[in-house]
Amino acid sequence: MVRKIETTLVQAGRAPVRQYGFVNPPLKRGSTVLHASVAAKKEVGQHAAFEPIENYGLMGNETHFALEAAIAEIEGGTRAQVTSSGLSAITLPLLAYLKTGEHLLVPDSVYGPTRTFCDSVLTRFGIETSYYDPMVTPESLKALLRPNTKVLFTESPGSHTFEVQDIPGLAKVAHAHGVKVFLDNTWGILHFAPFQHGVDVSIHALTKYPGGHSDIILGAVVVNTEEDWRWLRLGALQMGNYASPDDCWLALRGLRTLHVRLKAAEAAGIKIANWLTARPEVARVLHPAFPSCPGHEFFKRDFTGACGLFGVVFQPRYSADDVVRMIDALAMFGIGASWGGFESLVLPTTGTIRRSAGTGIFEGEAARFQIGLENIDDLIADLDQGLRALRGA
Ligand SMILES: Cc1ncc(COP(=O)(O)O)c(C=O)c1O
Repeated sequence: MVRKIETTLVQAGRAPVRQYGFVNPPLKRGSTVLHASVAAKKEVGQHAAFEPIENYGLMGNETHFALEAAIAEIEGGTRAQVTSSGLSAITLPLLAYLKTGEHLLVPDSVYGPTRTFCDSVLTRFGIETSYYDPMVTPESLKALLRPNTKVLFTESPGSHTFEVQDIPGLAKVAHAHGVKVFLDNTWGILHFAPFQHGVDVSIHALTKYPGGHSDIILGAVVVNTEEDWRWLRLGALQMGNYASPDDCWLALRGLRTLHVRLKAAEAAGIKIANWLTARPEVARVLHPAFPSCPGHEFFKRDFTGACGLFGVVFQPRYSADDVVRMIDALAMFGIGASWGGFESLVLPTTGTIRRSAGTGIFEGEAARFQIGLENIDDLIADLDQGLRALRGA
Protein backbone atom coordinates (compact mmCIF):
# COMPACT_ATOMS: atom_id res chain seq x y z
CA MET A 1 0.00 0.00 0.00
CA VAL A 2 1.31 3.46 -0.90
CA ARG A 3 1.72 5.51 2.26
CA LYS A 4 2.13 9.24 2.74
CA ILE A 5 5.25 10.75 4.24
CA GLU A 6 3.91 11.16 7.82
CA THR A 7 2.97 7.48 7.87
CA THR A 8 6.34 6.50 6.42
CA LEU A 9 8.12 8.46 9.14
CA VAL A 10 6.13 6.62 11.81
CA GLN A 11 6.43 3.14 10.32
CA ALA A 12 9.68 2.93 8.35
CA GLY A 13 12.42 0.64 9.71
CA ARG A 14 10.15 -0.94 12.36
CA ALA A 15 9.32 -4.64 12.63
CA PRO A 16 7.65 -5.22 16.04
CA VAL A 17 6.86 -8.88 15.30
CA ARG A 18 10.60 -9.56 15.01
CA GLN A 19 11.32 -7.47 18.11
CA TYR A 20 9.27 -9.33 20.76
CA GLY A 21 6.51 -6.77 20.14
CA PHE A 22 8.58 -3.78 21.12
CA VAL A 23 7.67 -0.71 19.10
CA ASN A 24 11.26 0.32 18.30
CA PRO A 25 14.13 -1.64 16.77
CA PRO A 26 16.80 -2.55 19.33
CA LEU A 27 19.96 -0.56 19.83
CA LYS A 28 22.69 -3.06 19.00
CA ARG A 29 26.40 -2.61 19.56
CA GLY A 30 28.88 -5.18 18.41
CA SER A 31 31.93 -6.21 16.44
CA THR A 32 32.02 -10.03 16.17
CA VAL A 33 29.02 -11.94 14.84
CA LEU A 34 29.20 -15.65 15.65
CA HIS A 35 28.16 -18.26 13.11
CA ALA A 36 27.03 -21.84 13.71
CA SER A 37 29.67 -23.34 11.39
CA VAL A 38 32.34 -22.40 8.87
CA ALA A 39 29.87 -23.20 6.10
CA ALA A 40 27.23 -20.91 7.66
CA LYS A 41 29.77 -18.09 7.91
CA LYS A 42 30.74 -18.58 4.28
CA GLU A 43 27.11 -18.55 3.18
CA VAL A 44 26.41 -15.27 5.03
CA GLY A 45 29.66 -13.74 3.71
CA GLN A 46 28.57 -14.31 0.13
CA HIS A 47 25.57 -12.04 0.49
CA ALA A 48 26.53 -9.62 3.27
CA ALA A 49 28.46 -7.04 1.24
CA PHE A 50 25.46 -5.59 -0.60
CA GLU A 51 22.53 -6.78 1.52
CA PRO A 52 21.40 -5.86 5.06
CA ILE A 53 22.77 -9.04 6.62
CA GLU A 54 24.67 -9.13 9.92
CA ASN A 55 28.14 -10.55 9.32
CA TYR A 56 30.66 -8.30 11.07
CA GLY A 57 29.94 -5.14 13.07
CA LEU A 58 31.74 -2.85 10.63
CA MET A 59 29.30 -3.82 7.88
CA GLY A 60 26.33 -2.68 9.96
CA ASN A 61 23.76 -4.33 12.19
CA GLU A 62 20.00 -4.30 12.63
CA THR A 63 20.06 -0.75 14.06
CA HIS A 64 21.94 0.64 11.05
CA PHE A 65 19.79 -1.32 8.59
CA ALA A 66 16.56 -0.01 10.14
CA LEU A 67 17.69 3.60 9.73
CA GLU A 68 19.03 2.99 6.22
CA ALA A 69 15.73 1.46 5.11
CA ALA A 70 13.83 4.42 6.55
CA ILE A 71 16.05 7.08 4.96
CA ALA A 72 15.99 5.36 1.57
CA GLU A 73 12.18 5.27 1.67
CA ILE A 74 11.80 8.88 2.79
CA GLU A 75 14.07 10.03 -0.04
CA GLY A 76 12.34 7.88 -2.65
CA GLY A 77 15.57 5.95 -3.29
CA THR A 78 16.32 2.24 -3.13
CA ARG A 79 19.35 2.07 -0.83
CA ALA A 80 21.05 4.20 1.81
CA GLN A 81 24.43 4.03 3.51
CA VAL A 82 24.83 5.70 6.89
CA THR A 83 28.13 7.45 7.54
CA SER A 84 29.96 8.81 10.57
CA SER A 85 28.97 12.45 9.88
CA GLY A 86 27.25 14.68 7.34
CA LEU A 87 30.67 15.63 6.03
CA SER A 88 31.62 11.98 5.51
CA ALA A 89 28.35 11.52 3.56
CA ILE A 90 29.87 14.09 1.17
CA THR A 91 33.46 12.80 1.06
CA LEU A 92 32.61 9.07 0.85
CA PRO A 93 30.74 9.13 -2.49
CA LEU A 94 33.24 11.60 -3.98
CA LEU A 95 36.19 9.34 -3.08
CA ALA A 96 34.34 6.17 -4.03
CA TYR A 97 33.32 7.45 -7.45
CA LEU A 98 36.12 9.69 -8.73
CA LYS A 99 39.63 8.78 -9.84
CA THR A 100 42.88 10.57 -10.73
CA GLY A 101 42.65 12.69 -13.87
CA GLU A 102 38.92 13.34 -13.50
CA HIS A 103 37.14 16.64 -12.96
CA LEU A 104 34.12 17.73 -10.93
CA LEU A 105 31.98 20.85 -10.80
CA VAL A 106 31.04 22.27 -7.40
CA PRO A 107 28.77 25.27 -6.75
CA ASP A 108 30.44 28.35 -5.31
CA SER A 109 27.76 28.29 -2.58
CA VAL A 110 28.84 24.88 -1.28
CA TYR A 111 29.17 24.03 2.45
CA GLY A 112 32.69 25.24 3.41
CA PRO A 113 34.18 21.88 4.49
CA THR A 114 33.10 20.35 1.14
CA ARG A 115 35.20 23.00 -0.61
CA THR A 116 38.13 22.37 1.75
CA PHE A 117 37.93 18.63 1.01
CA CYS A 118 37.94 19.21 -2.76
CA ASP A 119 40.84 21.68 -2.54
CA SER A 120 42.94 19.44 -0.28
CA VAL A 121 42.27 15.69 -0.51
CA LEU A 122 40.88 15.56 -4.07
CA THR A 123 43.62 17.89 -5.34
CA ARG A 124 46.24 15.65 -3.71
CA PHE A 125 44.80 12.66 -5.59
CA GLY A 126 44.89 14.54 -8.92
CA ILE A 127 41.15 15.19 -9.14
CA GLU A 128 40.40 18.73 -10.29
CA THR A 129 37.51 20.86 -8.99
CA SER A 130 36.02 23.92 -10.74
CA TYR A 131 33.59 26.14 -8.88
CA TYR A 132 30.53 27.43 -10.70
CA ASP A 133 27.85 30.04 -10.10
CA PRO A 134 24.99 28.14 -8.38
CA MET A 135 22.53 30.09 -10.58
CA VAL A 136 24.15 28.76 -13.77
CA THR A 137 21.56 27.94 -16.43
CA PRO A 138 21.44 24.49 -18.04
CA GLU A 139 22.54 26.12 -21.30
CA SER A 140 25.64 27.76 -19.80
CA LEU A 141 26.49 24.62 -17.81
CA LYS A 142 27.35 22.96 -21.14
CA ALA A 143 30.37 25.24 -21.56
CA LEU A 144 31.71 24.23 -18.11
CA LEU A 145 31.66 20.49 -18.81
CA ARG A 146 34.95 18.94 -19.90
CA PRO A 147 35.52 15.52 -21.49
CA ASN A 148 36.83 14.31 -18.08
CA THR A 149 34.01 15.84 -15.97
CA LYS A 150 32.42 13.01 -13.99
CA VAL A 151 30.41 14.69 -11.20
CA LEU A 152 28.16 17.71 -11.02
CA PHE A 153 27.96 18.44 -7.30
CA THR A 154 24.96 20.53 -6.22
CA GLU A 155 23.71 21.96 -2.95
CA SER A 156 20.30 23.61 -2.97
CA PRO A 157 19.83 26.00 -1.35
CA GLY A 158 23.48 26.96 -0.96
CA SER A 159 25.14 27.19 2.45
CA HIS A 160 24.88 30.71 3.94
CA THR A 161 23.76 32.31 0.64
CA PHE A 162 20.65 30.17 -0.05
CA GLU A 163 20.59 30.19 -3.87
CA VAL A 164 18.09 27.57 -5.06
CA GLN A 165 19.43 25.65 -8.04
CA ASP A 166 17.60 24.47 -11.18
CA ILE A 167 18.36 20.84 -10.34
CA PRO A 168 16.15 19.16 -13.02
CA GLY A 169 17.49 21.45 -15.77
CA LEU A 170 21.12 20.98 -14.74
CA ALA A 171 20.68 17.22 -14.28
CA LYS A 172 19.35 16.87 -17.82
CA VAL A 173 22.48 18.46 -19.28
CA ALA A 174 24.77 16.51 -16.93
CA HIS A 175 23.19 13.18 -17.85
CA ALA A 176 23.41 13.94 -21.57
CA HIS A 177 27.18 14.19 -21.02
CA GLY A 178 27.48 11.06 -18.83
CA VAL A 179 27.98 13.14 -15.67
CA LYS A 180 26.52 11.99 -12.30
CA VAL A 181 24.57 14.48 -10.21
CA PHE A 182 25.31 14.59 -6.46
CA LEU A 183 23.09 16.73 -4.22
CA ASP A 184 23.63 17.83 -0.62
CA ASN A 185 19.91 17.68 0.20
CA THR A 186 20.23 18.40 3.93
CA TRP A 187 18.14 21.62 3.83
CA GLY A 188 15.50 19.99 1.60
CA ILE A 189 14.75 17.04 3.92
CA LEU A 190 11.13 15.88 3.24
CA HIS A 191 10.59 18.84 0.88
CA PHE A 192 12.75 18.00 -2.14
CA ALA A 193 12.39 14.58 -3.78
CA PRO A 194 15.88 14.11 -5.25
CA PHE A 195 15.28 11.16 -7.55
CA GLN A 196 12.18 12.74 -9.10
CA HIS A 197 14.35 15.71 -10.06
CA GLY A 198 17.25 13.91 -11.75
CA VAL A 199 19.63 13.44 -8.81
CA ASP A 200 21.77 10.27 -8.75
CA VAL A 201 23.31 10.54 -5.27
CA SER A 202 21.50 12.32 -2.43
CA ILE A 203 23.45 13.35 0.65
CA HIS A 204 22.15 14.16 4.14
CA ALA A 205 23.65 15.42 7.35
CA LEU A 206 21.32 13.51 9.71
CA THR A 207 22.93 15.64 12.41
CA LYS A 208 20.39 18.37 11.49
CA TYR A 209 16.58 17.86 11.46
CA PRO A 210 16.49 14.03 11.54
CA GLY A 211 18.53 14.08 14.77
CA GLY A 212 16.71 17.22 15.76
CA HIS A 213 18.08 17.52 19.30
CA SER A 214 21.69 18.71 18.81
CA ASP A 215 23.01 15.48 20.29
CA ILE A 216 24.29 13.37 17.37
CA ILE A 217 26.71 13.56 14.43
CA LEU A 218 25.61 11.35 11.53
CA GLY A 219 25.20 11.26 7.74
CA ALA A 220 23.56 9.22 4.99
CA VAL A 221 24.04 8.74 1.26
CA VAL A 222 21.05 7.58 -0.79
CA VAL A 223 20.96 6.14 -4.32
CA ASN A 224 18.26 4.64 -6.52
CA THR A 225 20.02 2.24 -8.87
CA GLU A 226 21.78 -1.05 -8.20
CA GLU A 227 24.83 0.18 -10.16
CA ASP A 228 25.18 3.26 -7.92
CA TRP A 229 24.62 1.15 -4.81
CA ARG A 230 27.49 -1.19 -5.73
CA TRP A 231 30.24 1.44 -6.05
CA LEU A 232 28.92 3.39 -3.06
CA ARG A 233 28.70 0.34 -0.80
CA LEU A 234 32.09 -1.02 -1.97
CA GLY A 235 33.65 2.38 -1.23
CA ALA A 236 32.09 2.36 2.25
CA LEU A 237 33.43 -1.13 2.97
CA GLN A 238 36.87 -0.47 1.50
CA MET A 239 37.34 2.77 3.44
CA GLY A 240 36.09 1.29 6.72
CA ASN A 241 33.13 3.64 7.02
CA TYR A 242 31.18 3.17 10.25
CA ALA A 243 28.44 5.08 12.04
CA SER A 244 27.69 4.84 15.74
CA PRO A 245 24.62 2.63 16.32
CA ASP A 246 23.69 4.86 19.28
CA ASP A 247 23.47 7.84 16.90
CA CYS A 248 21.55 5.76 14.33
CA TRP A 249 19.04 4.79 17.01
CA LEU A 250 18.58 8.41 18.03
CA ALA A 251 18.18 9.48 14.37
CA LEU A 252 15.54 6.79 13.92
CA ARG A 253 13.72 8.12 16.97
CA GLY A 254 14.07 11.64 15.55
CA LEU A 255 12.38 10.56 12.31
CA ARG A 256 9.16 9.71 14.16
CA THR A 257 8.52 13.38 14.99
CA LEU A 258 10.38 14.92 12.05
CA HIS A 259 7.36 16.20 10.14
CA VAL A 260 5.86 17.88 13.21
CA ARG A 261 9.14 19.60 14.14
CA LEU A 262 9.80 20.60 10.55
CA LYS A 263 6.32 22.08 10.13
CA ALA A 264 6.77 24.13 13.29
CA ALA A 265 10.25 25.28 12.16
CA GLU A 266 8.93 26.21 8.71
CA ALA A 267 6.01 28.26 10.09
CA ALA A 268 8.15 30.03 12.68
CA GLY A 269 10.95 30.66 10.15
CA ILE A 270 8.53 32.25 7.68
CA LYS A 271 6.89 34.38 10.36
CA ILE A 272 10.26 35.66 11.59
CA ALA A 273 11.62 36.16 8.07
CA ASN A 274 8.49 38.22 7.29
CA TRP A 275 9.01 40.30 10.41
CA LEU A 276 12.66 40.89 9.50
CA THR A 277 11.74 41.81 5.89
CA ALA A 278 9.65 44.70 7.22
CA ARG A 279 12.45 46.06 9.42
CA PRO A 280 14.37 49.15 8.23
CA GLU A 281 17.71 47.63 9.35
CA VAL A 282 17.27 44.72 6.91
CA ALA A 283 18.08 44.95 3.18
CA ARG A 284 16.53 41.53 2.41
CA VAL A 285 16.06 38.02 3.68
CA LEU A 286 17.69 35.06 1.96
CA HIS A 287 14.85 32.61 2.48
CA PRO A 288 14.02 30.31 -0.46
CA ALA A 289 10.27 30.86 0.09
CA PHE A 290 10.72 34.62 -0.44
CA PRO A 291 11.06 36.34 -3.83
CA SER A 292 14.17 38.18 -2.52
CA CYS A 293 16.08 34.86 -2.57
CA PRO A 294 17.94 33.91 -5.77
CA GLY A 295 16.26 30.89 -7.37
CA HIS A 296 12.92 31.44 -5.58
CA GLU A 297 11.18 30.33 -8.82
CA PHE A 298 12.88 26.89 -8.58
CA PHE A 299 11.87 26.65 -4.92
CA LYS A 300 8.22 27.24 -5.90
CA ARG A 301 8.45 24.70 -8.71
CA ASP A 302 10.44 21.88 -7.03
CA PHE A 303 10.05 22.06 -3.22
CA THR A 304 7.00 21.27 -1.10
CA GLY A 305 8.12 23.42 1.83
CA ALA A 306 10.97 24.97 3.78
CA CYS A 307 12.88 24.36 6.99
CA GLY A 308 13.72 27.00 9.60
CA LEU A 309 17.18 28.01 8.35
CA PHE A 310 17.61 31.26 6.40
CA GLY A 311 19.85 34.27 5.94
CA VAL A 312 19.49 38.01 6.43
CA VAL A 313 21.37 40.78 4.64
CA PHE A 314 21.55 44.01 6.63
CA GLN A 315 21.53 47.50 5.15
CA PRO A 316 25.01 48.50 3.93
CA ARG A 317 25.22 51.23 6.58
CA TYR A 318 25.80 48.54 9.24
CA SER A 319 29.33 47.20 9.68
CA ALA A 320 30.51 43.70 10.60
CA ASP A 321 31.11 45.01 14.14
CA ASP A 322 27.49 46.24 14.34
CA VAL A 323 26.25 42.75 13.40
CA VAL A 324 28.53 41.14 16.00
CA ARG A 325 27.14 43.57 18.61
CA MET A 326 23.60 42.55 17.66
CA ILE A 327 24.37 38.82 17.84
CA ASP A 328 26.11 39.18 21.21
CA ALA A 329 23.05 41.06 22.49
CA LEU A 330 20.59 38.28 21.56
CA ALA A 331 19.53 36.27 24.60
CA MET A 332 17.51 33.49 22.95
CA PHE A 333 19.73 32.66 19.98
CA GLY A 334 22.74 30.47 20.70
CA ILE A 335 25.97 31.30 18.91
CA GLY A 336 27.23 28.08 17.39
CA ALA A 337 27.58 25.84 14.35
CA SER A 338 24.97 23.46 12.96
CA TRP A 339 21.17 23.71 12.71
CA GLY A 340 17.99 21.64 12.68
CA GLY A 341 17.86 21.22 16.47
CA PHE A 342 15.09 22.38 18.82
CA GLU A 343 16.90 25.59 19.74
CA SER A 344 17.41 28.85 17.88
CA LEU A 345 20.89 29.78 16.67
CA VAL A 346 22.57 32.66 14.86
CA LEU A 347 25.93 33.23 13.18
CA PRO A 348 27.51 36.10 11.24
CA THR A 349 28.19 34.69 7.77
CA THR A 350 29.88 37.33 5.60
CA GLY A 351 33.38 36.30 6.71
CA THR A 352 32.69 32.62 6.02
CA ILE A 353 31.46 33.07 2.44
CA ARG A 354 34.34 31.90 0.19
CA ARG A 355 33.90 32.41 -3.52
CA SER A 356 35.90 31.84 -6.67
CA ALA A 357 33.25 32.47 -9.34
CA GLY A 358 32.54 35.95 -7.94
CA THR A 359 29.04 35.11 -6.69
CA GLY A 360 27.43 35.55 -3.28
CA ILE A 361 28.44 39.16 -2.78
CA PHE A 362 25.68 41.02 -0.97
CA GLU A 363 24.88 44.67 -0.50
CA GLY A 364 25.51 44.43 3.26
CA GLU A 365 26.71 42.20 6.07
CA ALA A 366 24.93 38.85 6.40
CA ALA A 367 23.86 36.53 9.22
CA ARG A 368 22.25 33.10 9.33
CA PHE A 369 19.32 32.28 11.60
CA GLN A 370 18.17 28.82 12.67
CA ILE A 371 14.70 29.11 14.17
CA GLY A 372 13.94 26.59 16.89
CA LEU A 373 10.83 25.61 18.80
CA GLU A 374 10.73 28.48 21.31
CA ASN A 375 7.71 30.79 21.49
CA ILE A 376 7.75 33.01 18.37
CA ASP A 377 6.78 36.18 20.25
CA ASP A 378 9.71 35.63 22.63
CA LEU A 379 12.07 35.26 19.67
CA ILE A 380 10.71 38.41 17.98
CA ALA A 381 11.01 40.43 21.19
CA ASP A 382 14.62 39.27 21.46
CA LEU A 383 15.33 40.18 17.82
CA ASP A 384 13.77 43.60 18.41
CA GLN A 385 16.21 44.33 21.23
CA GLY A 386 19.06 42.81 19.14
CA LEU A 387 18.30 45.24 16.30
CA ARG A 388 18.45 48.10 18.80
CA ALA A 389 22.00 46.97 19.62
CA LEU A 390 22.75 46.81 15.88
CA ARG A 391 21.73 50.46 15.57
CA GLY A 392 23.89 51.29 18.58
CA ALA A 393 20.75 52.60 20.33
C1 LIG B 1 24.57 21.72 4.20
C2 LIG B 1 25.41 20.91 5.12
N1 LIG B 1 25.89 19.73 4.70
C3 LIG B 1 26.66 18.96 5.48
C4 LIG B 1 26.98 19.34 6.76
C5 LIG B 1 27.89 18.48 7.58
O1 LIG B 1 27.23 17.82 8.62
P1 LIG B 1 28.03 17.29 9.89
O2 LIG B 1 28.15 18.44 10.82
O3 LIG B 1 27.18 16.17 10.40
O4 LIG B 1 29.36 16.79 9.40
C6 LIG B 1 26.50 20.56 7.26
C7 LIG B 1 26.82 20.99 8.64
O5 LIG B 1 26.62 22.11 9.04
C8 LIG B 1 25.70 21.37 6.41
O6 LIG B 1 25.22 22.56 6.83
